[in-house]
Amino acid sequence: MSRGADALTFSEATSAEAFAERFSAQNDPSARLISAVVCHLHDLIKEFRPTQDQWRKVIDFLTEVGHAADERRQEWVLLSDLTGASALVEDINSRRPAGATPNTIRGPFFRADAPERQSGSTISLDGLGEPLIVEGRVVDLDGEPVPGAEVITWQANAQGFYENQQPDLQPEFNLRGLFRTDAGGRFDYRSVRPAGYSVPQDGPVGRLLADAGYPLHRPAHLHFLIRAPGFETITTHIYDAGDPRLAEDALFGVRPELVHSFEQTVLDGEPASRVSVSFVMVRARPGRGK
Ligand SMILES: [Fe+2]
Repeated sequence: MSRGADALTFSEATSAEAFAERFSAQNDPSARLISAVVCHLHDLIKEFRPTQDQWRKVIDFLTEVGHAADERRQEWVLLSDLTGASALVEDINSRRPAGATPNTIRGPFFRADAPERQSGSTISLDGLGEPLIVEGRVVDLDGEPVPGAEVITWQANAQGFYENQQPDLQPEFNLRGLFRTDAGGRFDYRSVRPAGYSVPQDGPVGRLLADAGYPLHRPAHLHFLIRAPGFETITTHIYDAGDPRLAEDALFGVRPELVHSFEQTVLDGEPASRVSVSFVMVRARPGRGK
């Protein structure tokens, strides 16, 4: 008997099975994920029972998301980030032993080509904002220093904008840098205190969520990517404990151990802030992602 004659008749009761039956020969993990997504989609449609017009609006929204995505702007990533999907995937894949620095999402403003800078130098190329001194240490789970680790940092300026959002206003690579830890696992640099910011609301994802009253704010933070041979790469944030909107991070990145006090100090006779951070790396484990 042919496969066609065997196939389930499509109906509301059998729709997901009818799809899964056609997909069952696929053992590729991506295909299995697609199959699961489609089965959940069928369940969702049965639960909400949209009209054809309502369903067309969903398709129109997704079409807009696709049109808003290009090389400079990734609207799909924004959709994934703002729905908590990115944070969940990160959490599932980077569970670490107690005491290790947790991963958080990388976010859309990372650049892989940040220039290496001398220890103690500033990453603020325009000098605008309250000076910030960042002192850090990279250690392993036993507290032993990790020398030669690459510490890549990037952050928003005092108005809450990244250099690649304002190519006409900020110098290239402003507030970005790569530092290398010394024999004691230490690094330090100067910067300016960042402001919190809103995620972009000029695209379909931001508009949809803003119209629904969804919080689109990100509390003030510094981004870090830390890598060293033999260790899992850390991608994480340091949050300013003084930001009153810590609890409403639109990207679900705040973890208690990543919240640090930015202490008031004086630098060259001017008010400044200082923050001390420690990053605890885990030795690379077989079968784990970087
Ligand atoms: Fe950020």
